[in-house]
Amino acid sequence: MDHPLRAWRDTLEELGVMGLVREPLPPSPAPEPRLEPARPAAPPRPVAPSRPVAPAPRSAAAYVPPSDPVGCPPPDVVAGAASLGELEQAIRGCLACPLGPCRIKFVFGEGDPGARLMFVGEGPGRDEDLQGRPFVGRAGELLDKMIGAIGLKRTEVYIGNVVKCRPPDNRTPTPDEARACLGYLRRQIELIQPAVIVTLGATPLRELVGVTEGITRVRGQWKRVVVGGREIPVMPTFHPAYVLRQYTQDVRRAVWADLKAAKEWVDKAAGA
Ligand code: URA
Repeated sequence: MDHPLRAWRDTLEELGVMGLVREPLPPSPAPEPRLEPARPAAPPRPVAPSRPVAPAPRSAAAYVPPSDPVGCPPPDVVAGAASLGELEQAIRGCLACPLGPCRIKFVFGEGDPGARLMFVGEGPGRDEDLQGRPFVGRAGELLDKMIGAIGLKRTEVYIGNVVKCRPPDNRTPTPDEARACLGYLRRQIELIQPAVIVTLGATPLRELVGVTEGITRVRGQWKRVVVGGREIPVMPTFHPAYVLRQYTQDVRRAVWADLKAAKEWVDKAAGA
């Protein structure tokens, strides 16, 4: 039988943190591939587009959003949503920016509605667009491992994004697209009331927190955001897709340090 600490040790090793493992583990029966999916692969779900995929508008300037409350949910409806479920119902038909008509699935976000720790990414990629869930591709597998490395499960945190619909070719959302969606993210945060937010990459840091400095410079430095009159500490770190591209020990150590600091703050806030 596999040693119970092996998965934990492998995750730490992947994050470049071997100094914490004091006891040598018994030899492994078979070496595991380093970037194996964190969870067993789910059976493929039927992929049913929520609406026929409309051609992308030629330019953002040409896009005219609808004025009905389904296609363009009014701010008072968003602000009045009393739960994440109500909010999702109110905004899942959103066509307020040019990303809406191009999506396959709306990616609302998922996790514990009372999570103390919330992760905010940039926006759905191809896998997320197909499944309607955040961070389910390769970057998501690494995010799951990062969450596991601080002793939590994906279901114990909340994972959201700046934009809820996939930008074409996974490009960065434009400031207008981010602005059109930001009220939704802010209402999510108001409802969840996390103790700490970890922003993944430069986009959520810029659009949610208003910090425009390069992520390499500011990662690991506490920032704050005020949402619904509450000040929430924000820990900026690298996006998992960047970690996959730049798989160096320095980058993995940096992410580990950032997540450890975020978890320590969550624990401190819980004990206070
Ligand atoms: N990248 C993101 O920023 N968000 C996702 O949901 C997936 C990949």
